[in-house]
Amino acid sequence: MTVHVIYGSDSGRTKAIAGKIAAKLDAKVINVADATADDFEGCDLLVLGSPTYGEGDLQADWESGIDVLKDADLSGKKVALFGLGDQTTYPDSFVDAIGVLYDAVVEKGAEVVGFTDTKGYEFEISAGVRDGQFVGLVLDQDNQSGKSEKRIAAWTSQIL
Ligand SMILES: Cc1cc2nc3c(=O)[nH]c(=O)nc-3n(C[C@H](O)[C@H](O)[C@H](O)COP(=O)(O)O)c2cc1C
Repeated sequence: MTVHVIYGSDSGRTKAIAGKIAAKLDAKVINVADATADDFEGCDLLVLGSPTYGEGDLQADWESGIDVLKDADLSGKKVALFGLGDQTTYPDSFVDAIGVLYDAVVEKGAEVVGFTDTKGYEFEISAGVRDGQFVGLVLDQDNQSGKSEKRIAAWTSQIL
């Protein structure tokens, strides 16, 4: 099974997590700033990651990366999402970016796998929640970095 992990990162946390996830999935890691339509299409499982910035926005490189994604053929493709955020400082837009990625890939006909429980997080509002669950893996390296290894291990087993 070919797995591509495509991530965007400003201060390096999402990049580091992308590497950890890729190691568990035996995946190729691609910075979204360099990603082509082939990178989105040419795999059996596509894993996409972004931190949230501004007030609920994608990481900056994803702003153009999302256009590449929208040009790619993702119909029927399995996609898993992960997002980094800070629930303490941004409780009203916590990991909103995974909600943006979710809407974009669903629009393209992809099947999103790897929803997770919101238990264990403290926030008010998140666009990353649908039907009471996060649409992917959620990590808070600002406040809960000690929980991340376990969360990554559980989630990668879940999606495999
Ligand atoms: C200016 C600024 C705005 C942010 N806005 C949000 C936000 O709206 N929601 C959220 O969950 N996290 C927000 N964060 C937290 C980052 O998403 C978090 O620190 C993340 O781990 C950074 O990932 P990176 O190192 O890959 O860039 C913000 C951080 C900064 C510095």
